[in-house]
Amino acid sequence: MGTEFDPAFIQAPEHRPKPTIVEAQGIPLIDLSRPIDDLAREIGGACSQWGFFQVINHGVPLDSRQKLESAAREFFALPQEEKRRVKRDAVKVLGYYDTEHTKNVRDWKEVFDFSVEDPTFVPASLDADDQKVTTWYNQWPENPPVLREACEGYAREVEKLSIKLMELIALSLGLPTTRFNEFFKDQTSFIRLNHYPPCPIPHLALGVGRHKDSGTLTILAEDDVGGLEVKRKSDGEWIRVKPTPNAFIINVGDMIQVWSNERYESVEHRVMVNSERDRFSIPFFLNPAHYTTVKPLEEMTDDQNPPKYRAYNWGKFITTRKGSNFRKLDVENIQIYHFKISK
Ligand code: OGA
Ligand code: NI
Repeated sequence: MGTEFDPAFIQAPEHRPKPTIVEAQGIPLIDLSRPIDDLAREIGGACSQWGFFQVINHGVPLDSRQKLESAAREFFALPQEEKRRVKRDAVKVLGYYDTEHTKNVRDWKEVFDFSVEDPTFVPASLDADDQKVTTWYNQWPENPPVLREACEGYAREVEKLSIKLMELIALSLGLPTTRFNEFFKDQTSFIRLNHYPPCPIPHLALGVGRHKDSGTLTILAEDDVGGLEVKRKSDGEWIRVKPTPNAFIINVGDMIQVWSNERYESVEHRVMVNSERDRFSIPFFLNPAHYTTVKPLEEMTDDQNPPKYRAYNWGKFITTRKGSNFRKLDVENIQIYHFKISK
């Protein structure tokens, strides 16, 4: 991980891990084999109270997940020079990367990103008036040879789960089941393989600094090491999530917050590292087509409850985000609250 004590890793004192861990109490665990009406009710409760939940009996085959987890371990174990052959840069935004920053502090991790649609269509420039479109392509390493097939197979399975979850979320909001489906036709969803190496300064650094996921929802597979913390909405306390074997963690993203006009709010979360064990995780970020105009759904607003956000273009939003890692880092990342309508 480069220079181990690079000051870029050091969190400001108020954002450092706390010495005592608050273990999770009452984090919703949802069994997706239950009847649909019960599920819509449970998911609605989990989304409004926590902004996240765990799912079991989710239909993603265990062997598909295990195949990818073991291929990911093999990939990250390769020498740095080999991983850097599929390195991300300002043009090739997918692939390997070990200098990600969250809110301008460097994360203690290395990642490999690939998109679910290959190629993925996105705006060619950040200019709001420029309609030109460009493509992002996946980059595949030579080793391990199974990585590509493992990634593509897993993506197909998790994508099915993401659609099922969006249908349940639609129902829970009183919308037709398929209300959200149209947004995902030319989706910009991507999957990230995360490796958090043991860290000599776990009290000063974070695997991922506090943030909210900016897309629709996230389906996270994590190993048994633990370290994910979510901010409890009732009191703002950071709560440690205990890994449930073979379950997925679902985060409500910013886009659901906007679509639902804040009936549901996205969850703030971060990742602790430790000095002993490597941790691996695999989030799937469900994102709509680049040409999606994101704004509160008409069904979710009325005279008493006017839209709380101005419309924004998803493609321009993500290209602005991706670009910010390669430009100077003293600018704040684009966030949904920039589109919030003030009272
Ligand atoms: C993320 C994230 C959590 C984890 O990549 O956005 O929150 O457990 N990851 O790796
Ligand atoms: Ni996240």
